[in-house]
Amino acid sequence: MNEEEKPFAVITGASSGIGEAFARGFAVMGFNLIIIARRENKLQELAVELQKEHEITVLTIKADLSKIEEIDAVYEKLRETKNISFLVNNAGYGIPGSFIKSDLTKQIDMINVHNIASFQLCKAVLPQMVERNIGTIINVSSISGLIVKFGNVTYTTTKAFLITLSEALQEELKHTNIKIQALCPGMTESGFHNTKELEKFDRSSVPKKFWMSSYEVAQKSLEALSKKRTVYVPGFRNRLIVTLSNSKIFGKIIKSLAKRKLSKKK
Ligand SMILES: NC(=O)c1ccc[n+]([C@@H]2O[C@H](COP(=O)([O-])OP(=O)(O)OC[C@H]3O[C@@H](n4cnc5c(N)ncnc54)[C@H](OP(=O)(O)O)[C@@H]3O)[C@@H](O)[C@H]2O)c1
Repeated sequence: MNEEEKPFAVITGASSGIGEAFARGFAVMGFNLIIIARRENKLQELAVELQKEHEITVLTIKADLSKIEEIDAVYEKLRETKNISFLVNNAGYGIPGSFIKSDLTKQIDMINVHNIASFQLCKAVLPQMVERNIGTIINVSSISGLIVKFGNVTYTTTKAFLITLSEALQEELKHTNIKIQALCPGMTESGFHNTKELEKFDRSSVPKKFWMSSYEVAQKSLEALSKKRTVYVPGFRNRLIVTLSNSKIFGKIIKSLAKRKLSKKK
């Protein structure tokens, strides 16, 4: 297949972590790429490297997805792009702390990045996917979207939105060949915990076996696309955490342990 004929995989938040791992995975599979994030230098470096190693075209889009006008610009760009086979709505971050005390602008920014951008980019690519009756969307949520809600209201709420969005879209598209996945990772090695907001987070407080690499998460997500389920939690330990947290007895114990840990931090 000529380079121009190769389908595109679009990944938001491809400048590090899970998004970068997806970009590398799609490059190996021979997809052209559209990679999106704020750090243009990181995107450019990745584009140069992947174009050198694989016979693909990599387009970069510098966009701050917390800004509605920049989401709109990406939306228009994707609507104009033919032959998009994959969309990975991955851009995201965490901010710890109380909802009551939090800065409203910061919380709305997170809703824009996690939800408005993902929602709008699904709307950009689905018409062409439906027309061709093929395509895949992966919405990167978190196990936080599946378990008891405490400690970080906006993060858990926006991640739960992505799960419901994925399930509702898959239901609407059940008679098509379009696959929607809500990917719900647990603790993942990436840039996620390197931000100023999470500088107090102690990685060693979570046992090593509960961490997965970004590559493992992306790879397992792609492998799971052949399965019927929409909501996918990579790793049996993460699945166990979700099951126990949602069980009546263990859920109460986990919730009170987590509350104690949070109140110690304050
Ligand atoms: N790491 C974990 O433990 C974990 C667990 C569960 C779920 N997740 C989810 O996995 C996804 C990827 O995170 P990660 O772990 O790979 O962390 P990461 O290495 O920090 O990557 C986050 C990506 O999101 C991009 N991003 C953040 N804010 C953005 C904005 N305003 N506009 C555009 N792009 C933005 C970042 O790019 P720029 O900074 O260059 O813009 C970066 O490429 C997130 O949605 C996160 O919630 C992570």
